[in-house]
Amino acid sequence: MAENTRVALVTGASAGIGEATAIRLSREPGTELVLVARREELLRDVAASLPCKATYLSADLTAADAPERVRAHVEANHGRLDLLVNNAGAAWRGGFAESGYANVHRHMELNFDAVVRLTEALLPLLRASAPSAIVNVASTAGRVSRARTGAYSASKFALIGWTDALYAEELPHGVHVGMVLPGFVATEGFPATELRQKAITRWIVSKPESVAEAIYEVGPGGKAERYVPRPYALAAVARILAPRLVRRVLAGGTASGLTTATAAESVASAPPS
Ligand SMILES: NC(=O)c1ccc[n+]([C@@H]2O[C@H](COP(=O)([O-])OP(=O)(O)OC[C@H]3O[C@@H](n4cnc5c(N)ncnc54)[C@H](OP(=O)(O)O)[C@@H]3O)[C@@H](O)[C@H]2O)c1
Repeated sequence: MAENTRVALVTGASAGIGEATAIRLSREPGTELVLVARREELLRDVAASLPCKATYLSADLTAADAPERVRAHVEANHGRLDLLVNNAGAAWRGGFAESGYANVHRHMELNFDAVVRLTEALLPLLRASAPSAIVNVASTAGRVSRARTGAYSASKFALIGWTDALYAEELPHGVHVGMVLPGFVATEGFPATELRQKAITRWIVSKPESVAEAIYEVGPGGKAERYVPRPYALAAVARILAPRLVRRVLAGGTASGLTTATAAESVASAPPS
């Protein structure tokens, strides 16, 4: 391994923001990539398209043995880890009365528990490679909740709270911990079709490449956090300063147009019992 090699692991690298992040990171000289997601054939295609060494591991990150399998893969194939991008995630819409605890549980399992478990397994490698970094991909839904996305928001609120604590804890160990909070981004999992169809809302939908650039700024770049696009930070500020107003606006009829269909719910709309 060359002396200036930097190894980056991206979860959810088979599509969307994760794929765009792998492409963005591969442009940096000395980068080696580890791509993780469930669909092996897509990971193989992404890895083959990159201009740097890239290995991949097919894993369901909610599986009990996933963190240990990922750690063993990194150690065997790369020997170090400089950047962990916790990006894999999904959303299934549903009001609480209809979708219940089961829907909350499946969001927490993937968007929070799997991130915590993978980070626990890889933290020793990140500390050994310090200065190194972790980027958690949260969401503006982790600052502001809308009707029928409460379970998704809960998982991202949890991720944000945990990320802030981990930042403080890992600072003395040379592991920078930051996060990216995307708004609407057109991807396979979050197509935002309803918003892209109308001229009046099309402009609020970003591209995965913009999020990938923000992930680069937070990880290798050392920023604390980035909203994508940046003005979405105003929603978070408004939620703190004017909670009554924000709640009223989000409970109104116009706001229901901001709860868009996701790919995960079309595959399995009912939560597991
Ligand atoms: N797009 C948006 O509007 C938006 C907004 C805010 C935040 N985000 C967040 O950004 C992240 C990426 O989303 P995206 O828009 O790029 O969605 P996407 O296109 O659906 O990509 C999700 C990625 O996660 C992987 N994944 C899903 N379940 C997995 C599991 N159980 N184990 C391993 N990998 C799994 C998927 O790969 P496989 O299916 O091959 O496993 C895929 O590579 C998510 O955390 C999401 O919450 C997205």
